[in-house]
Amino acid sequence: MNIPVATVGAATAGVLDGLERLRGPVTVVRRCTELTELVAVSQSGIVRAAVVADEAGELTAALAERLAAAGVALVALTDDPVLQARLDAMRIVNAPSGVDPGALAELIATAVRALDQGVEGAAAAGSNALADPAAAFGAGSTGPAPADAAEPDGRRGTVIAVWGPAGAPGRTTLAVNLAAEAAAAGGEVLLIDADTYGSSVAVSLGLLDESAGVAQACRLADQGLLDDAALRRISVSVSLRGQRLAVLTGITRSDRWVELRPAALAGVLNAARRVADLTVVDCGFSLETDEELSFDTIAPRRNASTLLVLDAADTVYAVGAADSVGIPRLVRALSDLAAAVPAAEPRVVLNKVRASSVGRQPESQLRGAWERFGPGGEIAAFLPADYDAADASLLSGTALLETAPASVLRAAIAELAGVQVPRRRRGARRTGAK
Ligand SMILES: Nc1ncnc2c1ncn2[C@@H]1O[C@H](COP(=O)(O)OP(=O)(O)OP(=O)(O)O)[C@@H](O)[C@H]1O
Ligand SMILES: [Mg+2]
Repeated sequence: MNIPVATVGAATAGVLDGLERLRGPVTVVRRCTELTELVAVSQSGIVRAAVVADEAGELTAALAERLAAAGVALVALTDDPVLQARLDAMRIVNAPSGVDPGALAELIATAVRALDQGVEGAAAAGSNALADPAAAFGAGSTGPAPADAAEPDGRRGTVIAVWGPAGAPGRTTLAVNLAAEAAAAGGEVLLIDADTYGSSVAVSLGLLDESAGVAQACRLADQGLLDDAALRRISVSVSLRGQRLAVLTGITRSDRWVELRPAALAGVLNAARRVADLTVVDCGFSLETDEELSFDTIAPRRNASTLLVLDAADTVYAVGAADSVGIPRLVRALSDLAAAVPAAEPRVVLNKVRASSVGRQPESQLRGAWERFGPGGEIAAFLPADYDAADASLLSGTALLETAPASVLRAAIAELAGVQVPRRRRGARRTGAK
């Protein structure tokens, strides 16, 4: 295979002459003067790889994602160690400017193969790679991104995604309270609001926070600047029973969803795994990949960030409302999830479980209905309808363990989080009893 390559920057001239003398496997077909020209050339489909030298400092994860979406692998050349570290953080292949032409050709061929495998992986996974640029970029697809395995400090925290269909089944309630229980039990926990339709983690925790920490973190990850200290600085710290819960608040207006691009969010999750034992992500509900509606393969896609999180998470909780509207919605959503992210093995959580919506002994009724009409698999948890506790918690802007520590809803979520909660005293009020 001969790989057509575009280049940017005069500094590449010496190496490129060397590449041309190799007479394969790489042919330089276009020498661009700036990155905008490179983007245009990449979209024309005439190149498979790009080598960027002088303007390597201008590269961002979003730009790499755009090139990847156009099927173009990227290699940057620089001798600046700070820039090298940034490029590494953005997962952009890089080498010193004086790299041997043979080694550079090999690097380009490897980057193209990796991109092709990412695209094939995404196609085999049933998703359109162009609709899922993060997969093409190497940030998504099955399992962790290759570089994850080599995080220098060795810590690789767990990521839980809390997701579910439209209709407010209780995703945020579960995400906030799972994170709160784990944090209060002494773990280092980060809660990320990545809902691109209606973020509500900040209000649930009483944070008057307009800073959209998740967007800030994405911006830094996009530039390869999201180190551990930066992530800690951006997170808001919430005190829970003397322990701290770190929170990346969500976008303040839903039209800001473009700021949560999958490649950047993948960088945020990687950083989160380094700083926290557990990261809980509150996800948007929709999984539609609107590629049928658009021939613009580089346009950002609103649901791509949700798909990225579901793909990258170690555990996905799929939350549905336990009633005749919520359950069919959940069944359909699970089938969409299986098509879009086959690697995800969702744990089903039925929320707002109550006899008035399904009849006496609601759990066994729901289990029976799930066996007959559900997509198969167990129900991981039944969370009781507990309006007093849920309302009190929202009203006071804090987690159930603070507002309604003895409530049945808190007990059920704590159990799901693996946290031991002292049993409720007989006769204690359902809500708020200490
Ligand atoms: N088990 C429960 N019992 C009673 N009320 C609940 C329960 N779980 C959640 N709620 C309430 O249901 C409403 C919706 O919950 P929540 O905001 O968690 O849903 P969501 O799925 O995140 O919705 P959205 O689509 O807005 O993101 C809130 O008022 C919440 O307090
Ligand atoms: Mg929500």
